[in-house]
Amino acid sequence: MTDHTDTITADGQTGAPLWLLAELTYRCPLQCSYCSNPLDFAAVEAELTTAEWIDTLTQARAMGAVQLGFSGGEPLVRQDLETLVAEARRLGFYSNLITSGLGLDEPRIEALREAGLDHIQISLQASDPDVAAAVAGSPKAHAKKLAMARAVKAAGYPMVLNVVLHRHNIDRLDAIIALCDELGADAVELANCQLYGWAYLNRAGLLPSREQLEVAEATTARWRERLAERGRDMRLLFVVPDYYADRPKACMGGWGAIFMTVAPDGAVLPCHSARMLPMRFPTVRDCSLHEIWYQSAAFNRYRGDAWMSEPCRSCDERHRDVGGCRCQAYLLTGDPTATDPVCDLSPDHHLIEAARREAAGDTRTAGELTPRNVHESRVFCRA
Ligand code: SF4
Ligand code: FES
Repeated sequence: MTDHTDTITADGQTGAPLWLLAELTYRCPLQCSYCSNPLDFAAVEAELTTAEWIDTLTQARAMGAVQLGFSGGEPLVRQDLETLVAEARRLGFYSNLITSGLGLDEPRIEALREAGLDHIQISLQASDPDVAAAVAGSPKAHAKKLAMARAVKAAGYPMVLNVVLHRHNIDRLDAIIALCDELGADAVELANCQLYGWAYLNRAGLLPSREQLEVAEATTARWRERLAERGRDMRLLFVVPDYYADRPKACMGGWGAIFMTVAPDGAVLPCHSARMLPMRFPTVRDCSLHEIWYQSAAFNRYRGDAWMSEPCRSCDERHRDVGGCRCQAYLLTGDPTATDPVCDLSPDHHLIEAARREAAGDTRTAGELTPRNVHESRVFCRA
């Protein structure tokens, strides 16, 4: 085995990883322009085998991980998903499938249920097929998603829907929530698009205006009241986009604090976007998860506060938000140690304001944004 743990050693205070996100594949039948997968995902060809995934899950569980998300790409593309779910159940994980619903049907839902899958989350793009088709690049996906949402509920799972909001669907939020209500959803995550990967590439065409956002928040609040009056238990979670906050989020609960992602080729990352950072990430083919989590240079790089630059270094809030998101800092400033420009104390906060102005001048339709697909991705592999 190659030693990728480098020279930094554990600080003796690092707790166990609680969350494992298993990105089983970057393959996906859809082409969403807001996808957070890396731009050069086509460079990843050698996915982990079934045996390698089982070994990875076993190691993570032995380290104390309890929550497991199967994601991608589209995880249903992997024909061994049921085997991995069964193994996760045997190991004692609480497992969640994060899916577009494409690749699902009633027999497969039943097979996943029998294998012990705890939870399924289906994503919706819009309330109407035309917007959904423009965003996802598939005219048939919308109807399939609705059918699978119903099938998941009929199989006894709670119906948990995720709607990624952006400037092309946020004005139709009233109809989107009405659709979720009509479907019988138990919980809906209204998640404003996070701007990483393909979404960052399409940022100007995705970022809503402040006015759109305020209307959407008011719509959500109105729906919460209406649902409560009817005694209808459908939880609505509204996630505000970072670009309209004045303080950043403590991304992933802190770098290497509770969360790890294993990418399709086995690269182990502190978050799903980190592989575009200018640093080397070890893979499960190089060394054990335990070594990677506790001893690798990559995972120790942004733990604690010694790495911080000003203004974070002397800021009273540095342990609350850990200086924000490293990926966002790098994407916006080119420096992964910079204060996240979302923070209005950052000397780079003007970049966020400029991004909002740029978005205000963008007139592209949803169908004119760059679709996430393998052909486009190869361009970034060569870059
Ligand atoms: Fe957080 Fe840094 Fe902003 Fe302080 S300066 S609030 S630590 S991001
Ligand atoms: Fe990578 Fe925030 S998404 S640190």
